[in-house]
Amino acid sequence: MPSMLGPPQASGRFLAAWTVVGRSVARLVGNFSDGVATMKACGLKRRVGCALGWVAGFVLLGGCVPQDRAPVPGGANPAETGFQIPVDQTLLTEGRHTYAIYCKGCHGENGDGKGPAERVLHPKPRNFVTADFKFNSRRSGQLPTDQDLFDTITRGLTGSSMPSWKLLPERQRWALVAYIKTFSPKWEEFDPAPTVPVVEDPYAVDEDKSRAIARGEAVFHGLAQCWTCHPAFVSPEKIQAYQEMMEIPPTQEFREDLHRAVARLSSEDQVVFVPDFRRDRLRAGNDVRVLYRSIAAGVTGTAMPTWVDSIQMKSEQSDGYVTTRGDLWAIAYYVHSLTMQRPRLLSEPVVVRANRALDVSQGDWQPLIGAELRAMRSGSDVEQEGWDDEDDEDDQG
Ligand code: HEC
Ligand code: HEC
Repeated sequence: MPSMLGPPQASGRFLAAWTVVGRSVARLVGNFSDGVATMKACGLKRRVGCALGWVAGFVLLGGCVPQDRAPVPGGANPAETGFQIPVDQTLLTEGRHTYAIYCKGCHGENGDGKGPAERVLHPKPRNFVTADFKFNSRRSGQLPTDQDLFDTITRGLTGSSMPSWKLLPERQRWALVAYIKTFSPKWEEFDPAPTVPVVEDPYAVDEDKSRAIARGEAVFHGLAQCWTCHPAFVSPEKIQAYQEMMEIPPTQEFREDLHRAVARLSSEDQVVFVPDFRRDRLRAGNDVRVLYRSIAAGVTGTAMPTWVDSIQMKSEQSDGYVTTRGDLWAIAYYVHSLTMQRPRLLSEPVVVRANRALDVSQGDWQPLIGAELRAMRSGSDVEQEGWDDEDDEDDQG
């Protein structure tokens, strides 16, 4: 039986066979035209990496990366169109060619995330060999579904240099999914785990989501304590009140910068900026269903945990506070409401990832200048600060 990409899931074993073929082919075919080699030559620094990446994406696409991209699932949904592609040598060859043109400059010829542009980018392009894919409908630490990869490629990752590739024909995007799976042996050994359960949305009927948002605020601060990494969005007293309500011992000492996010390290020892939902654009987007997925499943390779299994809490007393998986929806609505408070870039004074408290346990990591980018409007002029190149040496990584 030929393996198919797109739902239903490709059969692991058949794809694995092709994986071996694909990898040998990839080795044989040497250098492809290097989409962004010029980026290396231009010697720009890591801290403008993100901006540069957008430019690269722009140039490579020969078009515009839209500001507000479609939510996941983006593009045509194969489940709806019945679009399924057999993973055969033709598809892998197509994937290899497309990859060489559009992806190699960042993700590297061998898929190790070390393309010529890597040096100037933060966050770094994903390493397809270690295959710690962040955005996933399976629990954190598991490999993602083909649909997850397809959706990421279609939509891109906001706030990083990973562009949207929705202008590529759908077949080509599936070919890319098949091809990037040839880089890691993990796919061969992988026994697909179930995706995280998506329970019924108890608030779907509410036109006004304030009930969900209020509940989400309570669970976010009281039970889940998302503020140990993300900022808190209410006062310490309010947090204690929520904790008491949920019969959790109230926190006595809060960190000093409670209303700011804490930076964390990724599994590859890169600094990861934990988003402040009122300021930062979320990588996978702020569509409520996507938020449900990010929160339920977690973000692989980062400190962001899987919540779907720990959200259920039963109070000792029968009339006590009970949380269920339905509360994942409440939290998603709450986070969504926070993202709606985000000022539109360049339309109001806004500080992007500025002066973040860096509680990174290892090394004396210096904030990126990109991290100090202040974009502000003065009258009708847009001023950008923090782009000076003076401390060049310090910043070479
Ligand atoms: C300009 C640089 C750049 C180009 C070009 C680029 N990417 Fe990326 N890509 C990134 C970065 C950076 C990340 C990681 C973002 C993060 O960690 O938040 C990424 C992440 C990914 C991920 C991982 C998503 C996850 O869940 O972890 C996939 C899959 C991916 N890219 C596929 C592609 C494909 C396919 C192409 C070519 C069509 C491509 N990328 C081109 C920069 C790029
Ligand atoms: C132990 C630290 C930690 C805790 C606790 C935590 N997070 Fe996160 N979270 C992270 C990190 C790190 C990221 C950034 C991932 C990235 O961008 O690479 C993140 C990212 C996210 C994202 C963004 C996904 C995207 O598309 O960019 C959402 C939404 C989120 N967290 C929600 C929550 C919620 C809700 C809670 C509590 C129920 C929570 N987090 C608790 C560390 C944490």
